[in-house]
Amino acid sequence: MAEKLKVAIIGCGAIGPIHASAVLAAGEELVALCDLLPERAEALKEKLALEHTKLYSDWKKMLDKEKIDVLHICTPHDLHAEMCIEALARDLSVLCEKPLCISYEQLDAILAAEKKSRGHLAVCLQNRYEVNSGKLKALVEEKGFDGAYATVVWNRGVDYYRSGAWRGTKAHEGGGVAINQAIHTLDLLQWVCGMPKTVLAHAFNDHLKGEIEVEDTVTAVFETADGKKLNFFATTAGAKDFPPEISVRLSTKEIALCQNDLFAIGLSSASATLRQPTLGGKLVWGKGHEALIRDFYDHIRMGSHFPIDGEEGAKSVRMVLGIYRSGGEPVTL
Ligand SMILES: NC(=O)c1ccc[n+]([C@@H]2O[C@H](COP(=O)([O-])OP(=O)(O)OC[C@H]3O[C@@H](n4cnc5c(N)ncnc54)[C@H](O)[C@@H]3O)[C@@H](O)[C@H]2O)c1
Repeated sequence: MAEKLKVAIIGCGAIGPIHASAVLAAGEELVALCDLLPERAEALKEKLALEHTKLYSDWKKMLDKEKIDVLHICTPHDLHAEMCIEALARDLSVLCEKPLCISYEQLDAILAAEKKSRGHLAVCLQNRYEVNSGKLKALVEEKGFDGAYATVVWNRGVDYYRSGAWRGTKAHEGGGVAINQAIHTLDLLQWVCGMPKTVLAHAFNDHLKGEIEVEDTVTAVFETADGKKLNFFATTAGAKDFPPEISVRLSTKEIALCQNDLFAIGLSSASATLRQPTLGGKLVWGKGHEALIRDFYDHIRMGSHFPIDGEEGAKSVRMVLGIYRSGGEPVTL
């Protein structure tokens, strides 16, 4: 493998530039950018003063023409599956933005393509790289837990949904708050507490009727194989943006009190609470992208297996699809 990894990005909208900056910060070569809207790729090239980066509006042409080691997929949700499968068939390594995809059929096809490929597949669930996420996971592994809840209360109005034709549509976004905004919190919930076996959920849209076809609010109760419950509430009809929270009732009463802005362990209740950063705008994405991207590249260089692979990325998608299937009845994930 050449000294620098050759990286290309499809999708130069809101999140593509975060990936591009992280690629450069990691010291790799950004060989090509692709966006259906050429002005977005051009603007990003100019902003980052990229002299040699080639620009494309047709992603397959980019894959045909450029020698690429790693492809970053930063496009709307419905395009992830086709792009992942095509790149893996070419034995490229792929970093796909969340969600990995939007249906069971797509999941099966991606996982099959991953198995056949010599490339590595990674899913961008960067909140696992926040220090306090790891602290909560370690604590729960050490002490055990009896139950947990997670909440995401954010505000996304008409302007947000009108900022991209794919947003708020079943065909392109695949769903609403569960598959888009809350998927990181669902992923952390299962990462910390284990993948649940069943879910009973309600998904509905109250505040943007006629504006979006997808849900703005979800309530769910997940249950683990050994009968532990995980409550979940997410809405984009929030009064304001609040920090997403995961609270875990630990199986112990003997832990020291510790508190900082984002992480608190209460002595009396023997529960631990993680609050993710949510300071508005792009800060809700946290700071994990660069850490995840560097870690993925390290694994590619060493030829070792990256832990957030297709099956790991599939877990939060299965939780979301279970929520959508449930309709108030318990379903198996
Ligand atoms: N990990 C995170 O915290 C995080 C944060 C924001 C967005 N995302 C994810 O990133 C992805 C993109 O979201 P966004 O907010 O940047 O969307 P966006 O609409 O701002 O950008 C998507 C870009 O893809 C381009 N595009 C669409 N179809 C294309 C095609 N066929 N070929 C090439 N380019 C095409 C669009 O023109 C647009 O510029 C989504 O999966 C989203 O959920 C992740």
